[in-house]
Amino acid sequence: MTEPIFALEDVSFAYPRHPALAHISLRIQAGQRIALLGANGSGKSTLLKLLDALYFPTQGTLKAFGDALSEERFADEAVNFAFRRRVGLVFQNPDIQIFNPTVFDEITFGPLQMGWPREEILRRTDAILARFGIAHLKDRAPHRLSGGEKKRVALASVLILEPEVLLLDEPTAALDPESQGEVIRFLIESQGGGRTIITATHDLEIVADIADYAFVLAGGKLVAEGTPAEILANEALLRDTHLAHAHWHRHADGALHAHVHAHRHDHAHADGPSRYRAIKRNA
Ligand SMILES: Nc1ncnc2c1ncn2[C@@H]1O[C@H](COP(=O)(O)OP(=O)(O)OP(=O)(O)O)[C@@H](O)[C@H]1O
Ligand SMILES: [Mg+2]
Repeated sequence: MTEPIFALEDVSFAYPRHPALAHISLRIQAGQRIALLGANGSGKSTLLKLLDALYFPTQGTLKAFGDALSEERFADEAVNFAFRRRVGLVFQNPDIQIFNPTVFDEITFGPLQMGWPREEILRRTDAILARFGIAHLKDRAPHRLSGGEKKRVALASVLILEPEVLLLDEPTAALDPESQGEVIRFLIESQGGGRTIITATHDLEIVADIADYAFVLAGGKLVAEGTPAEILANEALLRDTHLAHAHWHRHADGALHAHVHAHRHDHAHADGPSRYRAIKRNA
């Protein structure tokens, strides 16, 4: 068996005075598309930041590409740079990620750091601006854009680098349906492409399309893992981890009732199992 991209052994992490992840052991292989599921505060973003070597485990070991991610190793700028070439994180909150004076500068920043030839930077920048429908924003100040526009800039600035490992934190949140479709199409098209993609999301409806395997977090612990089909079929799990919401509706007698609504692919369309598969077919 080949070396996993990430291997966590009994990893715990605490913010000052606040434990966030407890005793997590898992492996992620090259080329896997992984979904990280869990309610608000369950630890998804913290785990992604550990995988991106922004934080380091307070206990246990976390290896990436066979080497331990540790503060000592990353004090070496060469180690840090080599890692950032291979792994890219799109933050949940684009305000944290975005720092350049214009959208154009934001998107070309990474490629310039990587030392790409100028022509290639310009060509790829044009392509990614078009792909995310943000070409008209290229001279704007990113911190003055709308939430969804910022998110698209943040996604574009990482995707342009085509990193070997992509960490996406709620990539579809704050996006309008068309932009969501663009992100989901990218994730579907990445299937079998060799790139490892780890996506934190609340949106159970997209999990089967964007992931081959899912991990479920609750209260900082890994409580379940399996294929999307296995996870989505487990209504008790979804209810207990607050991933499925109660679907309220009024009956004819006027009484208000609630039942678990897991957002599974049971509302299929005639042209495919879900609207996202339909997007893929039309691509
Ligand atoms: N900077 C911080 N300082 C202290 N505690 C933090 C910090 N960031 C997150 N936490 C805490 O760590 C826990 C996990 O937070 P995290 O952001 O990883 O959750 P999440 O699963 O990404 O949630 P969400 O779905 O809301 O994005 C929470 O209890 C949170 O309050
Ligand atoms: Mg989060």
